[in-house]
Order: sequence, then structure tokens, then C-alpha cells
Amino acid sequence: MKKVLILGGDGYLGWPTAMHLAKKNFIVHLVDNFSKRTIENENSITPLNKIETMKTRVGLWNQINNKKKLTFSFGDLLNHRFIYEELKRFKPDHIIHYAEQPSAPYSMAGRSQAVFTQKNNIIGSLNLLFGIKKICPNAHLLKLGTMGVYGTPNIEIEEGFLKIKHKGRSENAQYPMKPHSYYHCSKASDSVNLYFATRTWKLRATDLNQGVVYGIDTPQTVLENKLSTSFHYDHIFGTVINRFMVQAASNMPLLVYGTGNQTRTFLNINDTLQCVELAIKNPAKKGEYKVRNQFTEVFSVKELALLVQKASREIGIKAKIRYINNPRTEMSQHYYKPTNKSFLKIGLKPKKISPKFIINNLEKIYKLRKNIDKKIIIPKIKWNN
Ligand SMILES: NC(=O)c1ccc[n+]([C@@H]2O[C@H](COP(=O)([O-])OP(=O)(O)OC[C@H]3O[C@@H](n4cnc5c(N)ncnc54)[C@H](O)[C@@H]3O)[C@@H](O)[C@H]2O)c1
Repeated sequence: MKKVLILGGDGYLGWPTAMHLAKKNFIVHLVDNFSKRTIENENSITPLNKIETMKTRVGLWNQINNKKKLTFSFGDLLNHRFIYEELKRFKPDHIIHYAEQPSAPYSMAGRSQAVFTQKNNIIGSLNLLFGIKKICPNAHLLKLGTMGVYGTPNIEIEEGFLKIKHKGRSENAQYPMKPHSYYHCSKASDSVNLYFATRTWKLRATDLNQGVVYGIDTPQTVLENKLSTSFHYDHIFGTVINRFMVQAASNMPLLVYGTGNQTRTFLNINDTLQCVELAIKNPAKKGEYKVRNQFTEVFSVKELALLVQKASREIGIKAKIRYINNPRTEMSQHYYKPTNKSFLKIGLKPKKISPKFIINNLEKIYKLRKNIDKKIIIPKIKWNN
């Protein structure tokens, strides 16, 4: 049985990925330092549903499945000795690296948050690269990146590279990066470091430039309430569709930042699991830096608000849409055409967003409405502070 190490296993995506792969007969070890829970506490933010400890969730999943395929260690990627020991002991075939500070607004809250984000993300990943080189150079690293590294360029967005011609010569260059925030800048630096490590040390790495993820449940999280993953709807960690669904379910207007013409890529949380599994089955070769754009659909923020509003009306919720000043610095009108052909080529079957999906999620959120704290939804962090 192949072994997968999941870094960031306590997170929104890490935990469902762990259960999904364990179900698919991988042996899975999780690592987390609970830094997200610390940021939640510091900002008086809680996820929609109570999230059990890692120990409880890992124990419960193993018990329900009558298997001992999930294990967990507490530790920080910033401690290189810790990560070296984990690699030595577990000997992974694949390493899925989710363990970064993932919030753009958090990284823009001030100097210390920007520095924390860049140090945590860039140095943590660098420690991991040195560990892989020293201990398990044949392991395949799957590193979560973001579509936000590309920004909104006035040309089509390719997957990681762009063939350029200049003064009669040509080069396959890393695609120009124009990140949206200091968080996105940390991902851009990670990508440069990752590509360098594959060229220099012949490591095997797949950079997954992921779109914005939405959704609450996966087939494993619904086995038991206590197996839920952390669903955020607040202004720091909540992603846009998740925020809109909570706003609708709690009779708030759907808050659209700016004109709402900002266009981005999206995917269902179950498609994150599908993509990661496909990327494991189609690994980068030795010395290869493979970039895959991980998304299924493209929407403007306004289109999403209208979709959630329309679905809400089907179940009697009269959600209003309110346009507010955009706290972010981003283009309000722009060209946007990214490709995701590398995943489609290896078999991705997208689960597109539908009124039925939104209604199911609204009904679930409605049942949990007593947990909703409306104060944490209003955006407080401005890019131009
Ligand atoms: N959720 C999305 O919409 C989305 C979109 C694009 C990319 N991503 C990327 O996917 C990854 C996972 O996202 P998520 O939404 O699950 O985030 P998350 O914050 O829920 O999960 C990340 C986990 O990593 C842990 N962590 C952070 N730094 C660590 C360190 N130094 N050592 C050990 N553990 C550490 C955190 O405690 C947290 O549990 C992130 O890298 C994020 O940037 C997420």
C-alpha cells in the first residue's frame, strides 16, 4: 500500500483529503501545528460547526472503518528537525502540502500578518524541500498553490509556463506572476523555489494552482457529525460562495465587493479530492516540475451572487444583493481566460455548481444557523490601510 503524508491535516481541505485517500487504500499520516486554530482564536472567529480535535477525528474514522490507516503528529514545518524526523519515520511515497496560511485578507491586515504569512509559507516549504532532498528524494511532492498567482493578465492563462519569443529567440518561461495579495506572493515564491529544486536536485513536484474552493460536505465528512471539516464564512477565511450561502441562510444581504465583475476560478471541495487523487496517479517524473491548474468553472462574483440568490428563492429565502466598497485592490473589469486542460486530460469529471447543490448546502447551513455570528462576516481588512 502506498503511503501519503498530508501536511496541514487539520484544515478545511487536509482532513477530507486524508479520509478520502484512506478510503482508497492509501496509508495516510497527517501533520498540523494548529496555527489556523490560533488565528481563529486571535480574531474571535469560529467555523460554522464545532470541529473536533485531530485525535478524536482520527480515532473515530479508524474506528468506524475498522482500520488503522490514519495517524497524526502535531508539529510545525518551520521546525526543520521535526519535518526531517517525520519523513524518516513515515517514508512517504507522496506528500500533499496544504500546510500554509491560506487567507489573502489575513496577509493584508498589517506588517506582522504579512511577515507571518510569508515566513510560514515560504520557509516551511523550503524546510520541506531540504527534507525531501536529504531523506526521500524519490517521493512525489504535491504542493497546493493558487490561481491567484497569475492575477488577471490580458492574455490567456496557461499552466505554469509560457512560450515566449524575444528578438528572434524563444524560451519556455515560468508564467508571469502578478499576485493579488502578500499571501498570493508567498505562493509565487514557493513556485519559484519548487521549480528550482526540481531542476537542481531532480526532485519530483506537482504544483496545483487551485481556484477558490466551496462546499461543506464530502462522502466521508457526512459519516458522522464529528468528522466534519472546518467550514468558514467569516471575512478572513470564508471563501466567496461559502460566504454568500451563509449570508442567504441567515437573512443577510449577499455582500458583493465592488462591481462584482471580478472573475475567478472555482471548484467543489469534492473536486479538490478528485484532482489530488488524479495528480497522485499521474505523478511528476524525476526532475520534473509539473503545474496543473486545479479548477472546474469560471464565474464573476456578481454571477455567483445571482446564482445563490436564485437558488435561495426556490426555498422561500428572499436574499438581497448589496454592493459594498471593495476592501481589496483588484481590477473591476478585466479579461480572464485560464485553462485547466491538464486535469481534463487525465480524467477530471467536474462537479459543476447547480441550484440543487446550493439548496442542499443552504438547508444544512440553516440547521446550524444558531452558530452564525454575523459580526465576523463584514469585511474589516482593507488592502490600502
Ligand atoms: N480553500 C481554498 O479555497 C483554497 C484555494 C486555493 C488554494 N488553497 C491552498 O490549499 C491549502 C489548504 O487550504 P485550506 O483551505 O485547507 O486551509 P486551512 O487553513 O484550513 O488548512 C491549512 C492547515 O495547515 C496548518 N498549517 C499552517 N502552517 C503550518 C505549519 N507551518 N506547520 C504545520 N501546519 C501548518 C494549519 O493549522 C491548517 O490546519 C493552502 O495551502 C491554501 O493556500 C486553498
